Amino acid sequence: MEKSQFLFVLLPMLSIMAYMSPHSILDSQGISLKSDISVQPKEEKKCSDCHSDLMESTILHGPANESCLTCHKVDIKEHTENGARGLNLVKRVPELCYSCHEDSKKDFNSLPVVHQAIKGENACTACHSPHSSDEKHLLLTQQKKLCLSCHNKDVTASGGKTANIKKLLAESKVIHPPVENGCVVCHQPHASENNYLLISAFPRGNYAPAVTDTYALCWECHDSDLLGLSKTDASTNFRDGDRNLHFVHMNGKKSRTCIMCHNVHASQNLHLIEDKVQFGEWSLPINYVPTETGGSCFPGCHAQKSYTR
Ligand code: HEC
Ligand code: HEC
Ligand code: HEC
Ligand code: HEC
Ligand code: HEC
Ligand code: HEC
Ligand code: HEC
Ligand code: HEC
Repeated sequence: MEKSQFLFVLLPMLSIMAYMSPHSILDSQGISLKSDISVQPKEEKKCSDCHSDLMESTILHGPANESCLTCHKVDIKEHTENGARGLNLVKRVPELCYSCHEDSKKDFNSLPVVHQAIKGENACTACHSPHSSDEKHLLLTQQKKLCLSCHNKDVTASGGKTANIKKLLAESKVIHPPVENGCVVCHQPHASENNYLLISAFPRGNYAPAVTDTYALCWECHDSDLLGLSKTDASTNFRDGDRNLHFVHMNGKKSRTCIMCHNVHASQNLHLIEDKVQFGEWSLPINYVPTETGGSCFPGCHAQKSYTR
């Protein structure tokens, strides 16, 4: 049989089969198809008879496993006879979610930095399934992928301009190892008391007072001696002899911050050194060249300088 002849026979067959299945009661618009061959339910149907796909994943949301009617005001007779008429949620998201997750509402709203993603409609369902998921915490997809599904463009919103992290990661030669494992090792997904939704302190901008507490985030994994000791022959490789060049650049009230030299996510250069320093709209090249025993740079702010350990 030719392909076109085959389809000629198959298509009508498929549509007859579709009429006979439970889903045939409704067309694609959710409008009831009043037809002699449509199958009317003989006994009260259960939601799961037709919507089992929503609950197929390994981790089930407690209330969805108990009763769909906790969140959907659906009259089953009406629904199966006359068709679906919208989601019919008992409350809108996020209020629906807060009605049980009260602590979340309290926590999120009392914190100074709130993720734009949890404001407005779909606040919670932008990231969580209300029904079931194969990911921990009912996430819609793997956590890093989820974050990058929105952070795949430059966003200009209330907080200024937010960088395109997906592009940065795709184009960089060196990735900060924790970023490989995801984003929530350093960021809170909902809200935080720290800048940039971070799990602990980190300053905004190019300058900040040089107190080691300012960089608590970095000391979650790195030794603060790389900054704290003015002289060292071990705590950092950024030194000239035993003169700690992290300390040299970062002391006093208006000291440089880590992002003046490093990108915390990824970069083109060894040691996550940035190509450029950003001063508002201006950017100056750093021209960092690493060597076996040190390195050199030639930034806009001083003549070429090198260091040797
Ligand atoms: C905790 C509240 C809650 C429970 C319980 C719940 N749902 Fe939902 N449901 C939602 C929300 C919220 C949406 C909208 C999702 C979105 O906008 O992405 C939704 C969407 C849907 C949709 C639209 C299609 C889809 O995949 O989004 C169907 C169908 C549905 N629910 C059926 C069910 C069935 C069947 C059950 C019981 C097994 C159930 N729901 C239990 C909250 C719930
Ligand atoms: C006889 C089959 C059948 C049963 C039983 C059934 N549904 Fe549906 N339902 C459908 C079909 C078909 C649709 C439309 C296609 C889709 O979204 O899956 C639908 C759609 C929905 C929608 C989405 C409507 C929209 O506009 O997006 C919700 C919510 C829903 N059903 C909830 C329920 C709940 C809750 C129950 C149990 C009380 C239930 N359904 C029982 C067949 C059924
Ligand atoms: C009827 C009460 C109820 C409603 C409404 C409800 N939840 Fe839940 N949720 C629970 C219960 C119970 C659990 C399981 C126990 C727990 O983790 O507290 C749970 C678990 C969760 C978890 C997993 C928590 C973890 O530690 O992994 C997430 C995420 C979640 N819900 C999100 C939502 C979202 C998003 C909504 C709104 C669409 C919502 N919930 C609406 C009762 C509810
Ligand atoms: C930007 C994506 C995103 C949005 C939007 C979001 N969440 Fe989450 N949520 C996450 C991630 C990621 C985790 C897991 C965090 C982790 O692994 O430490 C999580 C964890 C949770 C948990 C379980 C752990 C905990 O913190 O108690 C609950 C409950 C929860 N979210 C509820 C909500 C509610 C309610 C909303 C809507 C107000 C919401 N989430 C909106 C990403 C999101
Ligand atoms: C649904 C889309 C969406 C998802 C998913 C999402 N974000 Fe966002 N995120 C936004 C928007 C919108 C902003 C606000 C941008 C701005 O203000 O410039 C933002 C801002 C941020 C900021 C900057 C906050 C500040 O105040 O400086 C961080 C950090 C962030 N998101 C991290 C994450 C992480 C981590 C995840 C994954 C758990 C994630 N985002 C998932 C939409 C999203
Ligand atoms: C090692 C800790 C760490 C990890 C892991 C991490 N971040 Fe960040 N992120 C930071 C720090 C520190 C800042 C603030 C400094 C800056 O903007 O460079 C930041 C800032 C941001 C911002 C705001 C940037 C802006 O331009 O305002 C976004 C968005 C963001 N991160 C998203 C992500 C995403 C998405 C992931 C996962 C792919 C991730 N981060 C993983 C530490 C981290
Ligand atoms: C969750 C753990 C974690 C956090 C938090 C973290 N780092 Fe890292 N970082 C690592 C690991 C692991 C490496 C690779 C091993 C190493 O070089 O120590 C690394 C490497 C680096 C490197 C490159 C070292 C080299 O010589 O190539 C720099 C620069 C760096 N981190 C800066 C920072 C800054 C700045 C912060 C704070 C914003 C920070 N890190 C926070 C885990 C972390
Ligand atoms: C003035 C530029 C500059 C600033 C500011 C800066 N670093 Fe560095 N950092 C470097 C250079 C250059 C290296 C590479 C040293 C080498 O291996 O030759 C380095 C190396 C590192 C390393 C690898 C281990 C080590 O110490 O050799 C870590 C981790 C690190 N920096 C973290 C930080 C943190 C955290 C901050 C902010 C508290 C910071 N850096 C601020 C230039 C800077």
